[in-house]
Formats: sequence, C-alpha cells, structure tokens
Amino acid sequence: MFSLSLIASIALVPFVAAQGTDNSVAVKAIEAHFEGAKIVPDYFKEFEPTALLSLNFPGAGTLTPGQKVTKEQVNPNPTVTVTPAEGGSTLEGLYTIAMVDIDYVGADISGGVTRHWLANGVTIGSDNTVSNATATTITPYGGPWPAAGSGSHRYIVALYQQPDSFAAPDGFTGPLEISKMDWLKYVEDSNLGPLVAANYINVEEGTSTVSAVATSAVVSSTLAPASGTSTGTGTSTGATGTSTSSGSQASNGAFKLALSPVAALAVAGLTFATL
Ligand SMILES: *[C@@H]1O[C@H](CO)[C@@H](O)[C@H](O)[C@H]1NC(C)=O
Repeated sequence: MFSLSLIASIALVPFVAAQGTDNSVAVKAIEAHFEGAKIVPDYFKEFEPTALLSLNFPGAGTLTPGQKVTKEQVNPNPTVTVTPAEGGSTLEGLYTIAMVDIDYVGADISGGVTRHWLANGVTIGSDNTVSNATATTITPYGGPWPAAGSGSHRYIVALYQQPDSFAAPDGFTGPLEISKMDWLKYVEDSNLGPLVAANYINVEEGTSTVSAVATSAVVSSTLAPASGTSTGTGTSTGATGTSTSSGSQASNGAFKLALSPVAALAVAGLTFATL
C-alpha cells in the first residue's frame, strides 16, 4: 500500500520517464506538496528544488511531505538527508539549514515566523546526511511547540546554498533562542541561496479555534491512476485536519498517468523510499 498522494503527485507529471534511478518525479512531488499546502506562493514566491530533503526522527521514522506528527514525535533532533536530483551537481560546499514555523494556512505572519533551527556552514556527507561538524549553530534544533488551539502549523525545513559572500546579518552571529524573525529578509540580507531543497511537517496541538484557509490536497478524486495500478488509502493534510480519500479513483481522465502500471508502481516505490 502506498500513499495516493504520491500517485497523485506523479500524475501531475504526465510525461515523466520511468527510470529507476531518476528522482525527478519525487522532486515534482515535493513541489506539488508545497503548492498544495500553500507554502508556494503564500510564503515562498517560487520553489524549484534541485535536491530532495528528507527528515527522519527517532521513533517517527522518515516522514512524508506535510505529514501530521505530534510534537513528541518531532522533539528529538532529526537526521536530515539530502540527495541531489538526477543530473544535479554533487552537494559540496557549505549550506545553511533552518526550520521555521510559518503557522496555519492563512495566518497573519506579517510579524514574522518562528525560527526553531538555524545552522550556518553545514555540510552534506558522502552518505547524503547533513552534518553540523563544521557548522556555526545559531539556534540548535528545538522541536515544534504550537499553542493549543492554534491550528495546524507548517514547519518548513529548508536548505540553502551558502556562498562565500554569505554574511550573517547583525544580530544573527551568536547563539539565539527560538524566536520570531523575518526569515525571507534574513535570506536576502545574508546572500543565502539558492534554496536547494526543503520539506515540511504539520504539527497541531488541541482542537483548532482558528479558521484556516483550506488547502488543495495533492490527492484529488479527479486524479486517475492508470487503471489497475492502485487502490488504496491516501491521506491528505488539510489546514484544519486530515481528510482522507480512499478506494479506487474515478477514471474521469482529468489527469492520466503516462506510466505503465508496473512503471508507476516502481516510481511510486522509489518516491516513497526517497521522500
Ligand atoms: C549537531 O548534530 C548532532 C547530531 O544530530 C546533534 O546531536 C547536536 O545536538 C547538534 N549540535 C547542535 C549545536 O545543534
């Protein structure tokens, strides 16, 4: 059984070649998830990742994009794995990694987003994991902690290339507690970029009392897997909770997978494994 959201994501890429080692499909899937959760264009104007970033938490395992987790599950430091998109350059040099809480969909974040992690100068090892061995950690990873009733918060983990011209802005050179900031201004002021890869999770505490804007789930009943490829249960995370669509999808041809059933399964398996 695999998530229909992945199949749906794949369906958004109609003419993708089915190659066992090609993770371009998974890159398209994360782009679709960011749009579905309105991170793009509400927060990032654009998002064109050149690598896949996956989060693995002890006890919670490797998370799928936007996965709803409890604050307990994501309290310990994650292991972050970054794999270049096929054809992408090797991940040498220095990077900055950050986690920011951009709140529920439609929230007023003009007062800033909450920084839960900020490390400059991280590297990516030959095993694709992010290492802080040579890093300057400004804010050590501090797990999500949304206020009760404040909706489903989107926590973005983002990896930026850190060029030689990087210079930490005033006020960001020494250790800082978790606090609000203008993250996008920081990126611009410090010369960070491009945004190489990112992922996100949803954490909610208590029953929401906010009126979040509905998200466009990547899963849609109008998406039609190639006949015979998939029946199953997909979970999509909405702003106010989890909506589930299950069963075979109507074959109304809105999007058609251009993959053979076997190829689709192979690619879905790969996607599942690498996200
Ligand atoms: C560096 O990474 C290790 C392994 O994830 C972690 O245990 C440690 O807390 C990190 N150090 C800082 C300062 O974030």
